[in-house]
Parts: sequence; C-alpha cells; structure tokens
Amino acid sequence: MNKETTQQSNPPPTILVIFGASGDLTARKLAPAIFNLSQDDLLPANCFLIGVGRTPMEDESFRKYLKEALTKHSRREIDQENWNALEQNIFFHGGGYHEIDSFRLLEEKILNLEKELGKPSQCLFYISTPPGVFEPILENLGESGLAKRHYGTEYASKVIIEKPFGKDLQSARKLNLVINQRFDESQVFRIDHYLGKETVQSLLVQRFSNSLFEPVWNRNYVSCVQITVSEELGVGKRGGYYDKNGALRDMIQNHVMQLLALTSMEPPSSLNPEAIRDEKVKALKAIKPLSLKGENAEVVRGVYTEGLVSGEKAIGYLNEEGIPEDSFTETYAALCLHIENWRWKGVPFYLRSGKRLTGKASEIVVQFKRPPGILFGQDERFSLAPNLLVIRIQPNEGVTLYLNSKTPGLETKLQPIQLSFGYETTFGSNTPEAYERLILDALNGDGTLFIRGDEAEISWGLLSPILDYWNEQESIGLESYSAGTWGPVEADKLLLARGHEWITGKDYK
Ligand code: BG6
Repeated sequence: MNKETTQQSNPPPTILVIFGASGDLTARKLAPAIFNLSQDDLLPANCFLIGVGRTPMEDESFRKYLKEALTKHSRREIDQENWNALEQNIFFHGGGYHEIDSFRLLEEKILNLEKELGKPSQCLFYISTPPGVFEPILENLGESGLAKRHYGTEYASKVIIEKPFGKDLQSARKLNLVINQRFDESQVFRIDHYLGKETVQSLLVQRFSNSLFEPVWNRNYVSCVQITVSEELGVGKRGGYYDKNGALRDMIQNHVMQLLALTSMEPPSSLNPEAIRDEKVKALKAIKPLSLKGENAEVVRGVYTEGLVSGEKAIGYLNEEGIPEDSFTETYAALCLHIENWRWKGVPFYLRSGKRLTGKASEIVVQFKRPPGILFGQDERFSLAPNLLVIRIQPNEGVTLYLNSKTPGLETKLQPIQLSFGYETTFGSNTPEAYERLILDALNGDGTLFIRGDEAEISWGLLSPILDYWNEQESIGLESYSAGTWGPVEADKLLLARGHEWITGKDYK
C-alpha cells in the first residue's frame, strides 16, 4: 500500500526461511515472487533463502527444483545472470516441524550465514505448510529463541503465516495466542493474497483520492453493495483440503471480508498500517449478526452438480477426487450483511463466492439509488437503470461507471452507458503478482496489507455461528446448482426479496 515508503526503503540483510519449501505454494507463488523481486532489484543487498521441509534434500536439488518451478510459473522469463547470483544463496534444511533439535540446527545455519556476512541480518520466517503444523513451528521458533532474534532492533525476526488462519473463532483465538506468546504483533504478517492484488490496493486510492465518491459513499445514495468472487474452476486436486473447509472458510472469511472492509471502512487518519487496520476493524465490528433461519434468512449455501463450464462437461462436487459421498460441504455461499453504523445503516451488502460458476470474476459493485422519477423513470420509455460503480479486481482489472444516456434519434429514449477504465489499456500488462508486493512489504516490516489478529477473530466471530448452524443441519438447506451457472436460485431470491438482483454476470446493457 505504502508503495513509496516501501520501495524507497531498504530492507536490512535478510535470511528468508520458508517452511513447506517443497510444497505447491512455494513452487507456484513464492519462488516466482522472490525471483521477480530480485530481478527488479528490490531484494535486500544480502539475501539468503533457506527452504525447510520434512524430507531431506541436497541444496543442489532444491535449487534445481526452484529453477524448474520458475520456468513453469514465473510471469517473466528467467534471467540467467540473475539466477546464477541468486542460486548461490539458496539452501535447504531438512527436519521435522515438531522437533526442537531441527530448529537448533536451523539456528546454527542462520548463525553461520550471518558470520559469513559479517553483519546482523533479519530472519523472515514464512510458514507455508498445512495448518496442522503451524502451532509446532511457532512454538519451536519461540523455544529456540529464533522468534526473538535481534528483538528491539531493525533486525528483529518476522513471521508470515499463510491461510487458513484457524477454522473457526476458537481455533483462530488459540492460534493468535500461540503467536502472541512468541512474537510481538509488529513481527507478525498474516497473509491474505487478495490484499496484494494491485486492484485491491488501488481501491483505497479510488475512494480517497477522488472527491467525486466520498460524498455519495453512504446510505443516502447507495442502494446496495455487491461483492462477487467467482471461479470457473472446481476443486481439482485439492478435494482433501477443500472438503474440510468449503466456500465460507476458504474464500468469504478472508478474501471477501477484506474486500468488504476496504469498501465500507471510514477514511483512515493516515496511511499508517495501524490507522488503516483500525478502520477495517471498526467496520467489521459494526456488522450485525446474520439471521440464519426462516423466511428472513440472510445466508444461502450450495454445491455444484455436473454441468457445462465453457462448453466442457464438468463433474459434480461429490464425484471429485477425495470428496466423501456423504459430504455436505458448500462450494458456494451468499450472504446479506448489514453494517450498523452511521454511514451504512439500511444498506445491504451482498457477498457471494463459489466454484464452478459461469466465469472467473472478482468484482465490487456499488449500486446507487435512483433519482426521483419526476422527469425520467416514470414510464417505460424512460426506464431508468441504477447508476453503478463496478470495480473489477480480476480479470480485466478496471473500473466502470454506468450512467443513463439518451439514445441517438428523434425520440427520447434512455439507455445505460459505460465509462470504463482498464488497467491494462492504461498501464500495460506487466503488473507484479500479489505475492511480490506482500513479501516485499513484510521484508520492510509494513503490515498494511496483512491481517491483524483482531481482524481475523472478528471475521470468524461473525461467520462461526453460520458454520455451526450448517454443521447441525448437515445437508438440509444445502442447495444444488449446475456447474457453469451463477449458483443456486435461492441466492437470486435472497436479493429479489430485498428489491435487488445480482449485477455481476448479468448482461447489463
Ligand atoms: C485461495 C483459495 O485462497 O484463493 C482457492 O484457497 C481459490 O480455493 C484461490 O481458488 C483464488 O485466488 P485467485 O487469486 O485465483 O482469485
């Protein structure tokens, strides 16, 4: 977020330690991000990478593994000269996550690198393992003393924690406790990769650097806000993970709630990370508990059955690899939330996310109230479409404003028109990946784009009752939708009953 601050500042010498180094995330996201940062000369002048994994591997094999990953997944081709320099500083440490001895040996490696360098360096620990071992890793970082290395100086250790951050309020609280007994909150960086997306960062710029929006960004002018994060893909090979989580935990609790917080928060007093996170927390705290049952239920869940996605046959969720036949995990969730504060009282916020939907789209739609139908809007010829501000997070990143205009001709007829701005058209296509931004910010100790412990707990506090209720109900109330559609019809009804309809996916002309 603080692009200027972070890019001008110079992180101290760093030893980046990745737990889960032979995992999928390292190959697909972390290695390409580190490599691209190095290519842009944004890594610290002295930067070492130690990959940690349970299965021992020679340094040389790890380097080869990373190079292959880069060839497959990096947004840019490998610059051989850059790689040659980088690979000399890459090492592997094999050892268990539960055994303190493995952490003592890791510490020795770190001390040796520091000695070689002849100056202190910060350790950035990146926990990218399955969540089952988050706690032992954190505990051992504490017990070995690695957590508090150089604490109180600019070389203090830092820790990045991947999602999922807990699976409900209780586990998130426990995880926060384990973290905060070993690390100060200023050392902790909880990842939500959506916050690293360029368009998400620019949301605050759009809101607060244009005087056009702020006066109308409230209950007096906004009729509803819709946030959609839809995917065309199914669960693929991640069935084992996904079935224990579902759409609410996997997408809504983190990515969608973050988009909601950024869209609805009050202007922060500065761009200071705490000022921004305080405002997000205030907005999240003002959300009213959702009604779960009966006619006024504000939640819908669904699961995909077979269907056609982009013309290709797709199997149903229950037939995907690794999904038990009696599973009642939702692959789609839609909610209607109310933020009970001065700005938003009475404005519904509709959120939805699902897999195997018609298309991939992450979008925030602000729908404005109609003007009084005195001149236009009172008869069919003058049917008035609502003004919409559509912020497209991905793909085709951009912003579109829908207005009403007169169609050319002798008759006065109205039609919605679009004023559009596309990132790619204006700025070109070489945007850094989310993980580049996030790793760079963590190296610099800038927590703006990371989730603070209290934010995670508030979000779980809101969603845990829904999860408990669904768990009690098992498959009762789990709606189905054909793969390749926009989700269960009940989600359309959720809006229709409140006088709205989903905008994303509608052929809006
Ligand atoms: C991850 C979820 O956090 O986000 C995945 O675990 C999902 O299930 C992914 O597919 C979507 O991310 P993106 O950046 O492709 O929208």
